[in-house]
Amino acid sequence: MSKDDISTLPPGTVALITGANKGIGFQTARKLGTLGATVLVGARDEGRGATAVAVLAAEGIDAHAVLLDVTDQDSVKAAADRIGRTFGKLDILVNNAGVLLDHGIPVAEVTADRLRETYETNVFGTAAVTSALIPLLRRSGRGRIVNLSSSLGSLGVNSAEPERLAPFQMLAYNSSKAALNALTLMYAHALKADNIKVNAAEPGYVATDLNGHQGIGTAEDAAATVTRLAVLDDDGPTATFQSETGHIPW
Ligand SMILES: NC(=O)c1ccc[n+]([C@@H]2O[C@H](COP(=O)([O-])OP(=O)(O)OC[C@H]3O[C@@H](n4cnc5c(N)ncnc54)[C@H](OP(=O)(O)O)[C@@H]3O)[C@@H](O)[C@H]2O)c1
Repeated sequence: MSKDDISTLPPGTVALITGANKGIGFQTARKLGTLGATVLVGARDEGRGATAVAVLAAEGIDAHAVLLDVTDQDSVKAAADRIGRTFGKLDILVNNAGVLLDHGIPVAEVTADRLRETYETNVFGTAAVTSALIPLLRRSGRGRIVNLSSSLGSLGVNSAEPERLAPFQMLAYNSSKAALNALTLMYAHALKADNIKVNAAEPGYVATDLNGHQGIGTAEDAAATVTRLAVLDDDGPTATFQSETGHIPW
């Protein structure tokens, strides 16, 4: 399906996007909301979540703030419980929340603590949210999970094109996305029988706070790629890693 094929979603579609108060997550919430989904705007800060929801609601989107710090197990459990009580199911989970903490630090100087801190959000946070929400995704009957990865985490790209990636050698961030890709594959295979499709998105290098707005594209462009994977039909792929232009090697 190309992004031009996306029209509207089945009535009652419920989507949770983590880290949706800004950047790619916010634009993905906007896009899914425009397609008719009820969007649950995950944000770790209550005020930032409320501000984002107000913007989306003013555009006619059915948006609700969900307080969610992906590194805090109590927060994850509370969010899952609330979604279960209020909606009884979840159709789309976009694991978008992410951090980049080692930009500009030479690989040899990145500490294990920085890796741990990065993995807390990008890897363990994604696993915590995903496992807490799998029961609600199963109840959907056609759950979709999109993990926000990066070609910087592709072992294939890293081994084939080290010179091109030289300016972007970030030990903690890149390896966290490689681990996220592994999670993506494992969840995809484990959840196939439940008709839950799990894919990783490479959103492109887009200007957001994460990279000090050095990216070339826009968060809106990135959201189109993420949304395409979030609204796959039942005959769509699972266990893939895709950018706007196609498949990326794991
Ligand atoms: N921008 C790019 O070029 C690019 C390229 C490839 C992949 N990605 C991936 O795309 C995703 C979104 O990035 P972005 O560029 O949109 O970055 P961004 O503008 O910095 O947004 C990151 C979002 O994640 C949230 N977040 C961080 N830690 C969190 C936590 N513990 N719990 C809940 N939310 C948390 C942030 O919340 P606060 O506002 O509270 O900090 C923010 O809402 C990330 O996974 C990133 O790795 C981005």
